[in-house]
Amino acid sequence: MALRHLMSPLDLSVAETEKLLDLANDMEQHKEQYAHICDGKRLATLFYEPSTRTRLSFEAAMMNLGGKCLGFPSSDVSSVSKGESVADTIRVVSCYADICAMRHPKEGAPLVASMKSSIPIINAGDGGHQHPTQTLTDMLTIRNLKGRLDHLKIGLCGDLKFGRTVHSLIASLSRYEGIEFVLISPEELRLPGYVTAGMRKKGISYQEVVQLGAETMKDLDILYMTRVQKERFFNEEDYIRMKDFYILDKEKLDSAPKDMYVLHPLPRVNEIAVDVDQDPRAQYFTQVQNGVYVRMALILTLLDLEGK
Ligand code: CP
Repeated sequence: MALRHLMSPLDLSVAETEKLLDLANDMEQHKEQYAHICDGKRLATLFYEPSTRTRLSFEAAMMNLGGKCLGFPSSDVSSVSKGESVADTIRVVSCYADICAMRHPKEGAPLVASMKSSIPIINAGDGGHQHPTQTLTDMLTIRNLKGRLDHLKIGLCGDLKFGRTVHSLIASLSRYEGIEFVLISPEELRLPGYVTAGMRKKGISYQEVVQLGAETMKDLDILYMTRVQKERFFNEEDYIRMKDFYILDKEKLDSAPKDMYVLHPLPRVNEIAVDVDQDPRAQYFTQVQNGVYVRMALILTLLDLEGK
C-alpha cells in the first residue's frame, strides 16, 4: 500500500471514515481479537505541545493492539530544544518507529514532517488549524448516540476562532446531507473567515449567535462546548475577559431538549460546571473512551492491517 498520512479529516473519504468508525466499534466489542495485530510494531508520539488525552490514548491504542510506544511529551526533553528541525527529527524517528503521531503549535508542522517521512504521520493537532483524530472521536460519539451523521443540527460553542477541533469537525460533517450549524461565540472568537467561506461555498446552512440560552439550544441535536484557548491569545487581559463567557450549568441545561447531547473535546476549564456531569446528556467522558478505539482503528488503517 502507498504511504498514507492523516493531516485533515478530509484525507479520509466519507466511505473510509464510516469504515473506520465501524472498525472502532468492532474493536470495542471484540478487544481480544485485536490484541496482537500490531505485535512488533512501534508508535512514536512526538508532542511539541502539552496533551493528556491525545498522546495517552494513542499510546493506549497501540498497546491494546500489542505494539510498543516511544516518543517525547514536550520539546524541552528532546533535541528540538537544541534547534533540530521537524524535517530532521522525523527522518530520524522514521528509523525507530512504524507510525508517528505528532502535535505541534505551528500550523502545518505535521504536513512538513509528512513530506520527509517514510512512515505514516498523523496530525495530533497543529496550532489552531486541525485536529483530525479528535474529529473521528467526535464522529464516532455522535453516530453512536444519534444513530446517524446526517440531518443533524449541531451547536458549536466557545472559542471557534482558535478551536482546531471545531474546524476539523465542521470540515468532516459538512460532507453529510442536512447538516446545520449554530455557531455560538463572542464576536471576537468567531470562526475564521476561511472556514465560513468554505461553508458558504458548499451551501452549508449556518447561523452565528452570541447567547447560549434556551432559544439557541431549542432544536439542537448536539451541543459541542469548547474551552477558550488560552495558549493562542496574544495577551492575558483578553483571555481573562473571554474565559468565562459561557458556562453551561445544570440550570441552563434544564432548559435544553431532552435528547440534546453535550460533547466537549476536553480539557474543560469553567465552561461546563461539574454539576452537569451527572446528566445523561453529558457525554464528554464517553468521547474520551471512544478516542482509544478510533485511534486503534486509525493505526490499523494507516498500517494497512485492518483486514488482517
Ligand atoms: N482533546 C484533546 O486534544 O485533549 P489533549 O489536549 O489533552 O490531548
